[in-house]
Amino acid sequence: MIEQLTQLKEEVIEKITATENIKQLNEVRVAYLGKKGPITDLLKGMGKLPVEERPKMGALVNEVRAEVQHIHDVRKATLEEQAIQEQLEKEAIDVTLPGRPVKVANAHPLTRVIEEIEDLFISMGYEVAEGPEVEKDYYNFEALNLPKGHPARDMQDTFYISEEILMRTHTSPVQARTMEKKQGASFKIICPGKVFRRDNDDATHSHQFTQIEGLVVGENIRMSDLKGTLDIFAKKMFGEDREIRLRPSFFPFTEPSVEMDISCFKCGGEGCNVCKHTGWIEILGAGMVHPNVLSMAGYDPKKVSGFAFGMGPERIAMLKYGVDDIRHFYTNDVRFLSQFHRTEE
Ligand code: DAH
Repeated sequence: MIEQLTQLKEEVIEKITATENIKQLNEVRVAYLGKKGPITDLLKGMGKLPVEERPKMGALVNEVRAEVQHIHDVRKATLEEQAIQEQLEKEAIDVTLPGRPVKVANAHPLTRVIEEIEDLFISMGYEVAEGPEVEKDYYNFEALNLPKGHPARDMQDTFYISEEILMRTHTSPVQARTMEKKQGASFKIICPGKVFRRDNDDATHSHQFTQIEGLVVGENIRMSDLKGTLDIFAKKMFGEDREIRLRPSFFPFTEPSVEMDISCFKCGGEGCNVCKHTGWIEILGAGMVHPNVLSMAGYDPKKVSGFAFGMGPERIAMLKYGVDDIRHFYTNDVRFLSQFHRTEE
């Protein structure tokens, strides 16, 4: 019987060691250690032994059972650990795989140009001022030396809300509004915003577009200050090699009035398609604030003077980025918009 027991022990240990997973181990456990297994049978068969041998034999069987149980438990732990390991390997994430690209939004090209210009003027001590898009005829025209019936009004026909209220045709009314508010004090402002005109939309016209106005008022403000300021602006926006040229012009709210050109940034002045073979590109209108405009806003034109300028961010963006149709800015086509990445940041 002892021999039988030893053989059985070796057999079960071999089987346990050979198992490859928990399922197989369970099968071996049930087969050998279970109620119907051979070890239980042996215990049951003890009744047939002589009485004096029974305790010894009983102890031996229990010893074998305990040993087998221990080996089983160790194997079980190993197999469980192995199973977890396999599971982890199966679920492992390859962190070196490229991720799904996230689409990054860009600022609209017009917003970019406006912010760039704002930043430049803020760095020179200007404040940003804003005014209403639905404006009084008074601020849009009259306070800017464009009385009712003035022929220059024709160039800026717009959408009227009533006789006296209209969609502003330029950002210049913010000049008059700011002067009124400042009550005789000196100041420097830059005013970006939307403006409206009764134009038929085409590649270079839009019934709604944007402008940026600049205004400096104080004692001893001279034409040379305007020229120096515009020169800095041209160089910062279009390159340090740019030169500016002022041509005489007319605006009712400035006297004298000028139009500013920059030397062509594409050909450097030789003549090309961008500058229409003139070497110069027209950028903005400007001038010394008309005495009538100053006095209507409560300033004494004998004591203070000022300069002003007005420009279109669309035109600047079109030149800077080579955009050939103004309507691209308003149609929200992502194929157009996604081309403008902020590379300078
Ligand atoms: N308001 C003018 C326009 O819309 C642009 C302009 C010209 C503004 C000369 C100014 C200026 O401040 O001095 O055509």
